[in-house]
Formats: sequence, structure tokens, C-alpha cells
Amino acid sequence: MNAHTLPPTHTADATTAEEGLAIQEAQAKMDSAAATAVAMQNTLLTPRFYTTDFDELDAIDVTPVRADWDALIAEMVADPNKGHFRKNEDWDQVDWENMEPELRKEFIDFLISSCTAEFSGCVLYKEMKRRGANPDVTQLFQLMARDEARHAGFINDALREAGVAVNLGFLTNSKKYTYFRPKFIYYATYLSEKIGYARYITIFRHLEAHPEHRFHPIFKWFQEWCNDEFRHGEAFALLMKTDPKLTSGVNVLWIKFFLTAVFATMYVRDHQRPAFHEALGVDPDWYGHEVFTKTSAISTQVFPITLDIDNPRWTAGLKRLQKANADLAAATDKSGLGAFLGRMTARARAATAFAALYMIPAKKHRVPESPRMEPAY
Ligand SMILES: [Fe+2]
Ligand SMILES: [Fe+2]
Repeated sequence: MNAHTLPPTHTADATTAEEGLAIQEAQAKMDSAAATAVAMQNTLLTPRFYTTDFDELDAIDVTPVRADWDALIAEMVADPNKGHFRKNEDWDQVDWENMEPELRKEFIDFLISSCTAEFSGCVLYKEMKRRGANPDVTQLFQLMARDEARHAGFINDALREAGVAVNLGFLTNSKKYTYFRPKFIYYATYLSEKIGYARYITIFRHLEAHPEHRFHPIFKWFQEWCNDEFRHGEAFALLMKTDPKLTSGVNVLWIKFFLTAVFATMYVRDHQRPAFHEALGVDPDWYGHEVFTKTSAISTQVFPITLDIDNPRWTAGLKRLQKANADLAAATDKSGLGAFLGRMTARARAATAFAALYMIPAKKHRVPESPRMEPAY
């Protein structure tokens, strides 16, 4: 039998998102209802699925950034990570049975949330490719959907070893979709790709220096992984560059809003996983600041402002937001009038803390003519 005529059986080898999803579908028998239920959650802190005005997106003309665009697409077509996202001899045996229960719980939660976030990108990009007619735009979204399907599939492989997995087919059909105008998709998705890069590379470099903290083999894959995310972020930087209005005038206020929301969400979510960060040997405050620093530096390629993350009001505001969120979570588990009032005040405190973060004056700078950057961390 000629192996080349057989369809791939692993998401790492899938060359389109559709192929990757079909492979996942075939494995869905083993999926756990509990993991899927977690991935179905829609709170301010959990990854969401998005939909947008696909016609407006399809109307983008990439002519103003053509040279950078073609170079980036060529890099993605060359597919440097084909076959990478699969278990190989570097995949050490994981002792899930004897993992400390708190760590196990937080780590599984981390994997489910990462898988949902990867898959959220896959769903949005795949839909854009399906609905569009613009050859530049559809080619880009097809390539990005391919990568995200591999990423989600690989995390699901890791989860399956722990006896849980997210049913991606079910999520596609059943999870609620949030509508964002295209420009909000650009800001939010650009930032989530770039912060994804910064998060993965920061953990990878830390574990390179402290391999004794690498309690799971998946972290060995983070370097190539974050390069995919970096390229996806580059694509959104170029899309934003096609229209100067997107990064000027009143839109700068929206950019500031998304920067604040994305950073604050990461901070609060990471502080919900103390055992996970302790096992990695990472202080979540240090990690947050590292990731914000890297993401800010990268975002100067296209955004005219960065947040003043070294302002003492920034850290103080994040701490207040995190505390309000922890109190809200505690009150949510209880019933009665006291818990109800507790929830109301915690929500008000969270809103006030977020507003205070947003009000910190941003730093302005000149944006370069060509946004293209290479991963440098
Ligand atoms: Fe990804
Ligand atoms: Fe991505």
C-alpha cells in the first residue's frame, strides 16, 4: 500500500483545518463530558468563540502591504512546523496518577482553557476562509486555521492521557458565538496571538534554564508553537496596516481598552492557578510583568500607544481586580442574601478596578513604516 495516498491520521500532519478536525472527530469517542462542559463555559475569563462581519473582512485590499504580505504568506506556505505537533521520543511518560491533586486540577484546567482558546482561533479562521472570496484573505485564514487545528489537537492528545478531552465537534456546534465588528476582531485577535507568543516563549525560556520544573513534556514544544502564534500576529499587524484609520483617532481608545482587557484577564486567570505556577517555579506576578513587557514591545509595531505597566497604579489596580474576582468566585458558590450582596459589591469593585487601570495615561510613540518583526525572545 502506498502511504502517500492515505489521509493523515494525526492532526500534526493535517494540511487543512478540515482534515485536522476530521481526525479529532474520529477520536471524540474518548472525550469526556466534564472537559467539554468546562470548555463550554462563557464567562469574562474563559475563552470565547467569535463571529464577525465576514464580508467586510473579505473586502480588505492588501496592496499597501503587498511585499511584507507575500513574504509572510510564503513563510506560512513553506509550513516549517508540519509534523511537529505530535508525541515523539521527547514525550516523557506523565505520571497523572501520582500528580499532586491541586496541581493536576489546575493543570487540566490550563490545558482545557488553552485548547479552547486554540480552537476558538481555528473556528473563526476556518469560517472566514469558507465565507470569503478574496484570495489573499482566504489563503491567510486557511493557513492560520490549519495551525490552530494542530495546536488544539496536540493539547487534546495531552489531555487524553489524563483521561479527559474536549469534544471539538460538539463545541463548534454548541458553544455560544460572540459577535465582534472586524476592527475589534483585529485588536483582540492580534493581541491574543502576540500575548500567546509571549506566554509560550517566556515559559519555554524559563524551563530551558530550570528543566527540573518541567513537570510535563508539552512545554518542550512551546518554542516552535509560539513561532506559529508570532506569524499569526504578524498577519493581523499587516491587516491593520492596510487602513491607517484602524490605529488612529478614536480607535486608539479602543486599542487601549483591548490592551487593558487582555492583560488584566491574563493576570486574573493566572492567579487562579497558584499550584500550577509553583510547580513551574514561576511567580505569577513576575510572569505577568514579563509577558506584558514583551507583548508591549512587540505591539509597538502597529499600535501607537503602550500601557504604562511600570506605573505603581497598574500593579495596584491588577491586585484589586484579582481580589474582587476571587471574592466574586467565593460568593458565587454560596446562596442567600448575603452572598447575593457579596456578588454585587464584588462586581462593582471589579468594574471600578478595571476603570482605574484604563484611566492610567498610556505611553505614546511613533509607529514604524513597515510593521514586520522577527521573534526575538
Ligand atoms: Fe495556536
Ligand atoms: Fe494563533
